[in-house]
Amino acid sequence: MWGGRFEKSLDERALRYTTSLPVDRRLFEWDVLGSIAHARMLGRVGIIPVEDTAALVDGLRQLLTAPPPLDGPFEDIHSLVETELAQRVGQAAGRLHTARSRNDQVATDARLFARAALIDGVVRIVELQTTLLAVADRHTRTILPGYTHLQRAQPVNLAHHLLAYWEMLERDATRLRDCYVRADVLPLGAGALAGSPYPLDRAYVARLLGFSEVSRNSLDAVSDRDFLVEHLAALATIAMHLSRCAEELVLWSTAEFGYVALDESFTTGSSIMPQKRNPDVAELLRGKTGRVYGALLGLLVTLKGLPMSYNRDLQEDKAPYFEAVDVVHDGLALTAAMVSGAEWRTERLAVAADDPLIAATDLADHLAQRGVPFRHAHEIVGHIVRAAEASGRGLSEFSLDELRAFSPVFQPSAVGLKAEQIVDARRVVGGPAPRRVAIELRSARERTEAHRTWAAEHAARLPTLDSVTAAD
Ligand code: ARG
Repeated sequence: MWGGRFEKSLDERALRYTTSLPVDRRLFEWDVLGSIAHARMLGRVGIIPVEDTAALVDGLRQLLTAPPPLDGPFEDIHSLVETELAQRVGQAAGRLHTARSRNDQVATDARLFARAALIDGVVRIVELQTTLLAVADRHTRTILPGYTHLQRAQPVNLAHHLLAYWEMLERDATRLRDCYVRADVLPLGAGALAGSPYPLDRAYVARLLGFSEVSRNSLDAVSDRDFLVEHLAALATIAMHLSRCAEELVLWSTAEFGYVALDESFTTGSSIMPQKRNPDVAELLRGKTGRVYGALLGLLVTLKGLPMSYNRDLQEDKAPYFEAVDVVHDGLALTAAMVSGAEWRTERLAVAADDPLIAATDLADHLAQRGVPFRHAHEIVGHIVRAAEASGRGLSEFSLDELRAFSPVFQPSAVGLKAEQIVDARRVVGGPAPRRVAIELRSARERTEAHRTWAAEHAARLPTLDSVTAAD
């Protein structure tokens, strides 16, 4: 590609060290589609002869329909595509790189990849959200203890618990959609760094490739990787959410908790202990989170010292980025599979929710609602809890007379408080009462469907061989 200036070819060790082909081969399709759009634009505005455009488009089409092996002594996927194209169309191939640099080319490829990955991420979130909603729908009355500090705190229900994960994923979906807006900008036309003296029709290329905007500063366009940083930050947050969910599956599937049994096909046995059933998939969902955080931090470090504009360091963006996308996208699918296949031990949840002291807050609320300052009510119930512990009884077993010995304010409704009743009373917006959860389920379903629609609409804008070669 630069034979004119050099007498020697690149040292073999240097090539092995610097090539990005093993990683950016994954951009092959986007690279070819971007090249088709560029070639069409060059012909359309008269920068190259229309016959050459026809030959280029035809050769590029052949590359996509019958791809060459994506390896060999190339510096990157862009040089491989150019070389392969020359073998198919000869002379005309030499015109493709008019008014283009690999710097704006790779930025374009990466943005095309990111757009597709962001849409795919939303689709996978929608799948997991849909699974959570289906399970939650069956468990609006399945009581379990809610925890703080991993100590039983107050009763909630399983639907409410699962909807907490739905909310996390909801924010994740909006983060991906938000990131899409900034990824959706075409850098092609920025050239190596300083734009181009040709009368390029950048808007036409943007239209062919389905970009909403063109970049406004050539120096920034070839060196900006913010869209990858943002995407990685969103992926790291998703990985963190999946890891928390995985941790609960690990914890809850222990004999100690026994709240859930994971489907056998997502667990493994032990090579030495015949009785074991290990939650390896959930553990690795937790474990692989570190790689995603590493990708984010790695890219930030790569970028922090770069002077304007393109620097080869930027090539280091892709390997960790691709890996993070894969880890998180697989993780979303696996979590959906595990959640839908999990068997909930509702009787164990009920027994745990029937904790002898779990009504303590509600007894204090009972007093506070009848005029006792809450701090004082808290203290009174504290004494009752001590008495309950000393006598090995539950709070719901105390008679009205016994309660009144601690405070004359107690009324009959304070006796025999059950977890169901306690949950049912929490009808505040955001609370776990079944009727409240039913409202949230409906709204969650609507919002999940809105993401599904967004993903379908945006997927339709991604370029395909048909769309980039369609007649104007
Ligand atoms: N492999 C390079 C990358 O990923 C492509 C751009 C190379 N540009 C250059 N001037 N060497 O960033």
